[in-house]
Amino acid sequence: MELRQDPSSSTRWWGKETRAIVTGGNRGIGLAIGKRLAELGVTVILTARDAKKGKEALELLRNEGLGDYIHFSVLDVSDPHSVSAFATWFKLNFGVLDILVNNAAVSFNGLYENSVKHAEIVIKTNFYGPKLLIEALLPFFRRSSTHKSRILNFSSRLGLIHNVKNKNIRAILEDEENLSEEKIEGVIKLFLEQVKEGRWENEGWPKEWTDYAVSKLALNAYSKILARRLRDSNISVNCFCPGFTRTGMTGGKGSRTADIAANIGAQLALLPPQSLQTGKFSMGQSFFLHSRF
Ligand SMILES: NC(=O)c1ccc[n+]([C@@H]2O[C@H](COP(=O)([O-])OP(=O)(O)OC[C@H]3O[C@@H](n4cnc5c(N)ncnc54)[C@H](OP(=O)(O)O)[C@@H]3O)[C@@H](O)[C@H]2O)c1
Repeated sequence: MELRQDPSSSTRWWGKETRAIVTGGNRGIGLAIGKRLAELGVTVILTARDAKKGKEALELLRNEGLGDYIHFSVLDVSDPHSVSAFATWFKLNFGVLDILVNNAAVSFNGLYENSVKHAEIVIKTNFYGPKLLIEALLPFFRRSSTHKSRILNFSSRLGLIHNVKNKNIRAILEDEENLSEEKIEGVIKLFLEQVKEGRWENEGWPKEWTDYAVSKLALNAYSKILARRLRDSNISVNCFCPGFTRTGMTGGKGSRTADIAANIGAQLALLPPQSLQTGKFSMGQSFFLHSRF
């Protein structure tokens, strides 16, 4: 479906009691989507791995008049202790969750580089991070048939299956019926083994930003099976590629600003319950199923 530029009052299902967690909210698209959701009247729990940077972001948004809608907590998605401490804090302070925006991610490559020197931390942050956080927060999602809770995983078109040329790996990921967390983790393990042994380059992995692409490939696959698992729980799970956006991750290069990307992300996160699908991958301006994401 085409996205509306501004969610109108007729499709507005949320209010101040609606709670959204945004990871990696101190800069880039994360800060912009936290701001946008707060502007639209959602209570936002902005998180960042660095307390100082997070508090600066909080201050910035307070100075823009959004103080009533923004809260802050430290959260390093790559650290299981941090995830668990955050979940406890969230339960005590908010209890119920409506929207989880898994935005935090890393890449250590410049635009035209393809080093896998940091593959482990990339996979730990971009794949295991959101997965761990989702599992820790699942008990707190509001399970209302009228509202529907939402998980929006920031992903990338670099992680679409068609970028994988290895037939065996594709076969595992394309067999959606039999896809499981164990199989996805098996794919990740294989990649990291090949990285360690220095023989990943000719094994049919995505060619651009390979470690990052594999992390998003795994996130996409996990999102699909999670969507299936939660289908009857009134929790939707979708992935969103914001497109080439001018942030720290791209060294300031890109075809759009973080605000533009965040505006689309916020609209996806706030789709009316009746048009909210699950298990989809969205790119650019429309919400559609990429057949093999
Ligand atoms: N920009 C693009 O062109 C583009 C394209 C496709 C997809 N995406 C995706 O869009 C999302 C946002 O990207 P962006 O461009 O805004 O990136 P960015 O400017 O590099 O921001 C990344 C954010 O993630 C945080 N982060 C990194 N590791 C973390 C961890 N372990 N725990 C918590 N937070 C952590 C960073 O915190 P620090 O400040 O502490 O480092 C920062 O706030 C990412 O998922 C990215 O993969 C971006």
